[in-house]
Amino acid sequence: MSETKPLGPQEIIEKKKKYMIPCVYHFYKNPPQIVRGQGMYLYDSQGKKYLDFYSGVSVNALGHCHPEITDAICKQVKTLQHTTTIYLTEPIVNLAEQMAHVLPGEICKTFFCCSGSEANEGAALLATLYTGRNEFLALQNSLHGRTKLGMSLTGLSFWRTDPNPVGSITHVPAPTCYNCHFGQTYGQCQFQCIQEVENAIQTSTSGKPAAMFVEPIQGNGGIQVPPAEYYSKLRQVLDKYKMLLIADEVQTGFGRTGKMFAMENWNVIPDIITGGKALGGGTPIGYFSTTEKIAQSYTHPGASTFGGNPVTAVAALAFLKILKRDCLAERTDKIGQQLMNYLKSFLGKYPFIADIRGKGLMIGIELKATEKMDATVLTDTILEKMKDSGFLLGKTGPGRNVLTFMPPLIVAESDIYEIVDALEKIFRNI
Ligand SMILES: Cc1ncc(COP(=O)(O)O)c(C=O)c1O
Repeated sequence: MSETKPLGPQEIIEKKKKYMIPCVYHFYKNPPQIVRGQGMYLYDSQGKKYLDFYSGVSVNALGHCHPEITDAICKQVKTLQHTTTIYLTEPIVNLAEQMAHVLPGEICKTFFCCSGSEANEGAALLATLYTGRNEFLALQNSLHGRTKLGMSLTGLSFWRTDPNPVGSITHVPAPTCYNCHFGQTYGQCQFQCIQEVENAIQTSTSGKPAAMFVEPIQGNGGIQVPPAEYYSKLRQVLDKYKMLLIADEVQTGFGRTGKMFAMENWNVIPDIITGGKALGGGTPIGYFSTTEKIAQSYTHPGASTFGGNPVTAVAALAFLKILKRDCLAERTDKIGQQLMNYLKSFLGKYPFIADIRGKGLMIGIELKATEKMDATVLTDTILEKMKDSGFLLGKTGPGRNVLTFMPPLIVAESDIYEIVDALEKIFRNI
């Protein structure tokens, strides 16, 4: 607990209004002031405890303030905090080595930066350097960042603030089988979403885009899991046009979907993987990784002042060590299935549930309107009631109507019973 008396939510909101750029929004009508985190729990300034099923948006994969990560950080903070990459330090190279051990296929070289947005910016640059091309494809409903280029690659209006987005980016329909863009049904369709990629390359680009960005499972887009064949079919089209495949694993990376990287669920290896979030164990990190061959196109000096700094790098090393030692990716597959099974029992029982989907511990419940409330208001109402009952969930989707479950990977079965029980109590009273 902090030693000084907490300001409290109202004063924080007032200071925020007075001193911060208004775009920085927060969840809830009555938001708590979070002052402490431990394991699966967050605590507010009143001492109220919340079971966290959102992990700071897929960041706290090992829970809050994991003692081994915290110890590694504290030790490093007292020894050496920052030098930047113009000086040689050890943690950054050890982290790059460990990354090479977990990255799929021939991906073995990494650049560290400070956020997912920066990682995607870097990946776009790398793809341009390697291919000599500068157009990109991305999926509708995607989120790739809040920087100028990241936002322009993003296909969600909620996150596209820029009135003058960067050009040379074409968005194609995402493989969202529930609510298929083409009104088709999976199993009976001709994969029009793939045909549309080729169509877009031929009709809306020079015919030579550098790469296509994808989130293996769209997070902010409402936990959209593509059909099993999607990425292998996509790869064929991209290969035909000599385009790179860039997998944005910012949300899905490091065990969240039951594999170290979500693309491994479909045995498709991208050319570049970008990420951040969970790897830092709570410290700010971003990275992009690629093959030896592609990496060789980026020899002109590049840097990110804080990228791979000693504190973040030791936190990430501790994170990777625990993730592997405790086989958390494999565990996620099983425990995620349990959560999914419980949630699926709600389908058909509550008329406002439209769809339940996900993989591992990345699950969404898409809601539809009731007679009294539209789907967005309903989602907010449920989130607020859950928070009041001591449970934190997220919300995603183009309509902000997907209740989102992304708990720390250390979640226990008993946590799952608790949250499902709490949710059902609220659902019964809608
Ligand atoms: C898939 C994806 N890509 C990129 C980003 C941007 O990452 P950051 O906020 O660290 O810049 C996010 C953030 O939520 C994300 O979910």
